[in-house]
Amino acid sequence: MNTILSAAQSRPSISIAFLLSSALLLTSCQSGSSSVELTHELAPFPSLMIDNGDGFVVIAHRGASGYAPENTMPAMELAYEMNAEMIEVDVMLSSDGVPVLFHDAKVDELTDGSGNLKDFTLQELQALDAGSWFDEAYAGTPIPTLEELLIWAQGKMTLNIEIKTEAYREALSESVEPRVIALVEQYDMADQVLFSSFDYRILARLNELAPSIPAAVLYEPVQSVRKGPVTVVNSLQADGFNCSVREYSEQWQQELTQSSIPVLIYTVNEREQMAELIQRGVQGIFSDYPDVLAEVAAEELPTP
Ligand code: G3P
Ligand code: MG
Repeated sequence: MNTILSAAQSRPSISIAFLLSSALLLTSCQSGSSSVELTHELAPFPSLMIDNGDGFVVIAHRGASGYAPENTMPAMELAYEMNAEMIEVDVMLSSDGVPVLFHDAKVDELTDGSGNLKDFTLQELQALDAGSWFDEAYAGTPIPTLEELLIWAQGKMTLNIEIKTEAYREALSESVEPRVIALVEQYDMADQVLFSSFDYRILARLNELAPSIPAAVLYEPVQSVRKGPVTVVNSLQADGFNCSVREYSEQWQQELTQSSIPVLIYTVNEREQMAELIQRGVQGIFSDYPDVLAEVAAEELPTP
């Protein structure tokens, strides 16, 4: 395994039962090969509020999470100051159904609390300290709501809203998808966001409820049942393919490029690997260090 890969890239906790049931979504699809063609029209890639025009997207992973506590407003502010062109955040649901920014299923590592995030009400979550674990300078930094982020980002920063499997509820009315879509529509940001998820049930629902808001598959091997990337994108009527640098291959790049499917790769913090991926032609990279990524992109790509 490459040394750049950090614990931050660990897989989400998805139950085996759900993985197997979700894999059924793909069982009727063609097998992956370089000749697979895209079968649907892609929703347009979101408009970039900040864009240096080089055709490559610098994405701040969980905000500028190398410099400030991940998924908090200080990390968003820093990413903005560093001219990130998109910010990726993770979204979970409080016990009273409010979308909040948080990555882990449990609050233990990233706050001063203990237990599963989904068991906390919004009020209880907002009383937690989500900053001290990173640095005492951030003591008392709260967990933001998605609504707070949208208000901050409106007309200012393009967002990749990654919806975590822990926010899925079987009853649609209690689940995350309609809540996130309603917020994005309330703030008129449908062309300023890209949805994504490792949970293919969430992607299927997003496509059903809001097909015009772009959504990218976050490649997950079990649900993908060994199908190639275009087949997976087809089966979910998705608009992009987001993938771990550990799983991404030259062959997949060719297949996706042939179908003009945008490819975003996570999480890359080493200059050499950033440069290699940019040369390979990926549309964007998620990094905890968006300032470093922007520097490398400027070196590798011709100035427009
Ligand atoms: O969305 C890209 C990346 O964030 C997915 O992995 O675990 O960092 O949310 P993770
Ligand atoms: Mg994420």
